[in-house]
Amino acid sequence: MEMKGKDLICTQDWSLEELEQTLRVAHDMKKNRYADKYTDLLKHRTFLMFFYNPSVRTRQSFEAAATELGGHAQFLEPKSMRLKTKHSAGETIEDAANVMSRYAVGLGIRILEDKIAAYGDGDRLLREYAQYATIPIVNMADDRFHPCQGLADIMGLQQRLGTNLKRKKLLMVWGQGALARSWGSIQENLLISSRFGMDVSLAYPEGYDLDPEVIEMTKANCKTSGSSFNITNDLVEGYHGADVVYSRNWMSPAAYASGEFDKAGEVKKAMQIDGWTCNEEKMKLTNDGLYIHPMPVDRGNEVTDAVASGERSIIVDVAENRLHVQKAVMGLTMSDQRIVL
Ligand code: CP
Repeated sequence: MEMKGKDLICTQDWSLEELEQTLRVAHDMKKNRYADKYTDLLKHRTFLMFFYNPSVRTRQSFEAAATELGGHAQFLEPKSMRLKTKHSAGETIEDAANVMSRYAVGLGIRILEDKIAAYGDGDRLLREYAQYATIPIVNMADDRFHPCQGLADIMGLQQRLGTNLKRKKLLMVWGQGALARSWGSIQENLLISSRFGMDVSLAYPEGYDLDPEVIEMTKANCKTSGSSFNITNDLVEGYHGADVVYSRNWMSPAAYASGEFDKAGEVKKAMQIDGWTCNEEKMKLTNDGLYIHPMPVDRGNEVTDAVASGERSIIVDVAENRLHVQKAVMGLTMSDQRIVL
């Protein structure tokens, strides 16, 4: 399967076979972390990273990934570039993408939350880079999707539940808190979990609907893979029989109504809602369910310490998997060498 040159903006853009191959490589890269067959896949090559927003895991894991593949990952805050924006003259995406393509073998971009003026702007920016760049563009989290996180989630579930996740029940549930998080991680998880045949249950308080297009894609994925999908506004119902619980705060669809990210308004609204913390009592209703979260965790709000640090929590394993899946993505899409398992 030839994957060299592919962009990764959302897992939905890749075939199921490509996702499965990436995960097979990631599992092998974890098992044989420093094996010779992997340590020069990107020898002397550079991966560029544009971070409009802060990061801990994504930046560190991409830097470590490039190092372990024999290359280097280079960090840049786009505010130090002279880019054309709605408010200022400057370099176009076309020019930036063309020039970066001469320096490196791949370009990662993160843009979300306060760095965009309308929902979808971040994802559109990545796709514009992809249109002009001749190297792979990797989404390091935008306002709609977070593909490396989605792959790491599935790898973590496979490690505990087996490679075949068909008909395992996932509860994706809104979490209390004052973070007004973007939809990228959760929407990516809905899409990839449904591709892998999981039964998906989505629970949130009224007023916290997600992107209708992503919901339709998730429903279609479930239909194709023979699994189920349902939405509830009940804060407990979805826990019954769940094999996996993913609790996470997210912003409402009104977050950009004013033409900019209204974080204060979102926080005020969210703080009036009670009862949506994932705790041990609710986890007792599950099928000895695993707890998953992309981190950073808002402990005491999205989830209690007892659950986040409990024996069924896989949050740290999933964070580690970011390294392995990103190595796999970079090796498969950016290396001149063929990976043999
Ligand atoms: N999960 C994740 O993307 O973490 P960071 O925001 O720390 O990169």
